[in-house]
Amino acid sequence: MQDNQTLTILFFGDVCGGAGMRALRFSLSKIRQDYHADMVIVNGENSADGYGIDDKTFADLKASGADVVTLGNHGLEREEIIKTLETTSTLLRPENFQTGTPGVGYGIYDLGSVKVGVGNIHTHSGIMGAVDSPFKAIDRIIKNVSKVTPIIFIDVHGENTDEKEALFMYSRGKVSAICGTHTHVQTMDEKILDGTGYITDVGMCGAKHSVIGGDIELSIRKSRECLPIKITPSDTDAVMMGVKVEIDKVTGKCVSIERLTISE
Ligand SMILES: [Fe+2]
Repeated sequence: MQDNQTLTILFFGDVCGGAGMRALRFSLSKIRQDYHADMVIVNGENSADGYGIDDKTFADLKASGADVVTLGNHGLEREEIIKTLETTSTLLRPENFQTGTPGVGYGIYDLGSVKVGVGNIHTHSGIMGAVDSPFKAIDRIIKNVSKVTPIIFIDVHGENTDEKEALFMYSRGKVSAICGTHTHVQTMDEKILDGTGYITDVGMCGAKHSVIGGDIELSIRKSRECLPIKITPSDTDAVMMGVKVEIDKVTGKCVSIERLTISE
């Protein structure tokens, strides 16, 4: 569907190192055209060689066609990005990181005919126990963004499927879409309930032949021998995973959500 009434957002999951960056650099502008996208959001927390984001990969993602870049648990690992977070509104770190963390967790973006709110939230359980409540964070985003626009898109980053679904059920009817990232594995549970689109994880942009984007041999060795090996990204042909979300511009309700898996 493509009409004046409907907004089309493309959202791509964790860009995992060089393979993911290369694929987006070559393909994202064409994908954007093919899908008549009004806005492209990309999770870039693994874009700098698999761990964090730096100024170069952030600039590359923007130049490739990303309007907004979201982050997650690895988001602030690179020192140089701290300054960038303080000076740009198109790079978001999770809203529920501790008070005082540089940067912002949501923004409102003027697309001309419509304004779109985008938020980034981290789940509480699992890898990031030190974050504030994601439920309070989404309440805050909804309260502030809905004063300006009914269109609210949320990237919820984290491991736990139950927490992501609970956040969806909690916020259904109040946000346009809430889409998961972090696991690098695309789930097939996309749905719409009370006008809110949802998927537990959109997947990743990274090497097709890999272990969640990482080097196969290193990943096997790490798991098989229980060694704390640092995994480098695999660099085979890439796959770009994400979703296409269509939203009614007037009501902010999700009209459709479709999984995307695009090979390099
Ligand atoms: Fe992550």
